[in-house]
Amino acid sequence: MLKPEVATALNQQVELEAQSSHAYLAMAVWAETQGYDGTANFLYRHAEEERGHMLKLIRFINERGSKAVVPALGAPSPYFSGLKEAFESVLEHETRVTESINEVVDVCLRVKDYPTHNFMQWYVAEQLEEEGMARRILDRLALAGDSSGALYHFDRDITSIEPMEEGQGA
Ligand code: FEO
Repeated sequence: MLKPEVATALNQQVELEAQSSHAYLAMAVWAETQGYDGTANFLYRHAEEERGHMLKLIRFINERGSKAVVPALGAPSPYFSGLKEAFESVLEHETRVTESINEVVDVCLRVKDYPTHNFMQWYVAEQLEEEGMARRILDRLALAGDSSGALYHFDRDITSIEPMEEGQGA
């Protein structure tokens, strides 16, 4: 059975991963309705990966003899002024997720829960990848500026910036 403070921290992480999935789903809908089909595909897939992160935590909590809490979610922002604002929001989100994961790791060390600490190392590595990916995308968007031709190419090529795969990342 997980110690209560670890179970609480893990369930908070479940909520954050669910919110990430929800936020990226809304962002994908925005992108698709703006004609950014490549970006929409990328974000739909990313939303699925965040759901995978949530499920992995849920299964772990249950396997350790506790009970995962499926959270209520608010509606995420459906509007963005452009791709730059959307991906700034992704980076902001991922930075918050990283901070939260670090807090879970801190709790594990404080109460000497080494199995959960070990489990969380996958998330620590994943966050490095995800923050890096968001920064690479923002760098590309900075190069594209407001040029519609450059943004067209960005949208076409974004699928070459791979989110992490199951096992490798999700
Ligand atoms: Fe699962 Fe991108 O945090």
